[in-house]
Amino acid sequence: MDEIPVARRLTPSVRQQQQHSLLTLLILLASLMMAGTVVFLRSTQDMTPLLDPLTELMPPPEADGRLLGHFSYPIAQEADLVEVIPGRRLHGDAAAAFLAMQRAAAEEGVQLRLLSAFRDQETQHNLFFPVMVERSQRPEERAKVSAPPGYSEHHTGYALDLGDARQPELDLDSAFDQSAAFTWLQQHASRYHFRLSFPAGNRQGVAYEPWHWRWEGSSHALELFEQARRFNVAT
Ligand code: DAL
Ligand code: ZN
Repeated sequence: MDEIPVARRLTPSVRQQQQHSLLTLLILLASLMMAGTVVFLRSTQDMTPLLDPLTELMPPPEADGRLLGHFSYPIAQEADLVEVIPGRRLHGDAAAAFLAMQRAAAEEGVQLRLLSAFRDQETQHNLFFPVMVERSQRPEERAKVSAPPGYSEHHTGYALDLGDARQPELDLDSAFDQSAAFTWLQQHASRYHFRLSFPAGNRQGVAYEPWHWRWEGSSHALELFEQARRFNVAT
């Protein structure tokens, strides 16, 4: 052993360490690539297979396209949505109209609060099905107060739920129609092209929602809601 110079004695062990490090690096890279492939494959799969067991409980849509009273709506384009307050987005046109209406109301001492705005398909799914299961409801019952995914006006970016900041206890409650905010909206919302979507006794059979308004101030918005508008005014 002593005959081998120290430098040469160390060489094989350093080489082994280098080979070991290289192997470890290769294993790490291979693991990362495999994990990346799995994530990629999962992300390319449509979300709907996850929804299937529940959506299968739904009846088929009516001849006019309604499902349990609700018309179907396209999901707004990302590029058309703007954030009105953190976490609440609306179509840019509806956002501008809402902010103008909110300012006008504030000048008269009424504080309109934006409770809900644009909702994507997954959010609507999570509002509809888990609550239905939790309450042991049938789809027909759940649809009285919540639209099935794909059928909510909120998908368009033109619908919003409003509250009265001075009476938060009335949020999303039919008694919201007793608030100063609702009285103000009844008098002024149409000037900003907002319409109450689900008045009491609406023909769609959806429960009275004094807080839910939709914006119909452009040809695009008018077109999206035309079927619902015509259906509700028909006798
Ligand atoms: N609450 C209304 C009907 C919706 O879910 O769109
Ligand atoms: Zn709503």
